[in-house]
Amino acid sequence: MKILIIGTGYVGAITGTCFAEMGYKVTCLDKDQNRIDNLLQGIIPMYEPGLEEMLKRNLKAGRLDFTTEIIASIAHADICFIAVDTPMSADGAADTSQVENVAHMLGENLDHSCIVVTKSTVPVGTTYKIDNIIHKALQKRKLNIICDVVSNPEFLKEGNAVADFMKPDRIVIGASSKQAIDIMKELYAPFMLNHNRLLVMDVISAELAKYAANAMLATRISFMNQMAALCEKMGANINDIRHVLGSDERIGHHFLYPGVGYGGSCLPKDVKALIHQGQQQNCDLSVLRAVDQANQDQKRIMRQKLLAYFGENRGLKGKTIGILGLAFKPNTDDMREASSLTLINELIADGANVRLFDPIAMPKAKKLLPALSNIHWCEDEYEAAQNVDALVLMTEWKQFRLLDFSLLLQQMRGKAFFDGRNQYQPDEMHRKGFDYFGIGCSLLTQRKDCKTLYLYAP
Ligand SMILES: NC(=O)c1ccc[n+]([C@@H]2O[C@H](COP(=O)([O-])OP(=O)(O)OC[C@H]3O[C@@H](n4cnc5c(N)ncnc54)[C@H](O)[C@@H]3O)[C@@H](O)[C@H]2O)c1
Repeated sequence: MKILIIGTGYVGAITGTCFAEMGYKVTCLDKDQNRIDNLLQGIIPMYEPGLEEMLKRNLKAGRLDFTTEIIASIAHADICFIAVDTPMSADGAADTSQVENVAHMLGENLDHSCIVVTKSTVPVGTTYKIDNIIHKALQKRKLNIICDVVSNPEFLKEGNAVADFMKPDRIVIGASSKQAIDIMKELYAPFMLNHNRLLVMDVISAELAKYAANAMLATRISFMNQMAALCEKMGANINDIRHVLGSDERIGHHFLYPGVGYGGSCLPKDVKALIHQGQQQNCDLSVLRAVDQANQDQKRIMRQKLLAYFGENRGLKGKTIGILGLAFKPNTDDMREASSLTLINELIADGANVRLFDPIAMPKAKKLLPALSNIHWCEDEYEAAQNVDALVLMTEWKQFRLLDFSLLLQQMRGKAFFDGRNQYQPDEMHRKGFDYFGIGCSLLTQRKDCKTLYLYAP
């Protein structure tokens, strides 16, 4: 079975490489010549643990190829995966123009029977639209070939994407043609030697399932962020509450971590796109509207904490803030919708200086932030702490877990540490000499100031 992957971004590069690793012959097509030239040399356009070695190995073995040649790459494909982006439009809808362009390209160039698979996250009905575009073009060319269009949404998590693809929780196939379903089963059989993880359904349900999964994850995060805010008001500790919730089998421990708001290329845009799809069907997804609003508010939480610490009236003008971690989550260099960008832009607008460090994402972050004299790019955590009034942890990279806190304090001008990911123990940080603020968990002494404890504590 020969596979063509169209789009070599996060999803395309990983999908192509993992299929090649399983032994398939894979060609990856992209319109970006520079990206293809790099990939051919084993240089990947993103940071993803394990991907580069696997890609190089399969390039060398001749199972994996990268090209910008449309006609030649389509000519040999038995299955064509569409893995191009579906970014957010101004009104929140998913912009499917790139996917539609690929459908036109396939319709204009296919000359043999094959299966087309939508891997991109697309609004409900898009797979049928792709089917229509391709078949209209084929009709125009008077070609009578079989081309089934199948939905196969991707659930990989950046930072763990190779493992997720090689050992998926589930593989969702939305299709109506028995022949297409059988081929998809055969394609994924090597990924399911332990047990069957294939969920076959109609196309509409498969497309919606992807949005529902991301919307559920976003809902858990926004719920926990709001619980954390309530904890701060009432003097409770969100970590204790998280353990109580997580130990209930019906809830489970995953995705119960409060923080600085969700970001990345998927959750923000998919929640908005699903709200938009609901509106089009006259179905108000009010829960998701609240989830989205709560997340936008949460992205501003660290500035509010900084303002509260330094005094609302004095503001942050002239203050220097060190920021540890820029990527939207650890183990990736993806800066799309990263909460750090919201904070940095706010601080710059306030007239503050920022000192930034991220182990991997700085090259991508530099492209998204203005070249200003009050933005300082640092070599490591300790340089980021030099002469700062406060440090803010935005991304929980593992290397931040065991920092040399006395060295950090020595470097700092102030002693405030704002932990946006609850990585440290409040009491310990206090003992180490910091004024420490987490999300929904503060020092007991700070909590004692709060109204509820004052009212109810014995
Ligand atoms: N990134 C993730 O973690 C993730 C996870 C699951 C699903 N998805 C979905 O997968 C899709 C792709 O996401 P991504 O993050 O990989 O996008 P991306 O922006 O990283 O990559 C898209 C690639 O497609 C290429 N491209 C665009 N039009 C093309 C064309 N006509 N011909 C050839 N190449 C073309 C671009 O040059 C780019 O390299 C999106 O719909 C996204 O929502 C992403």
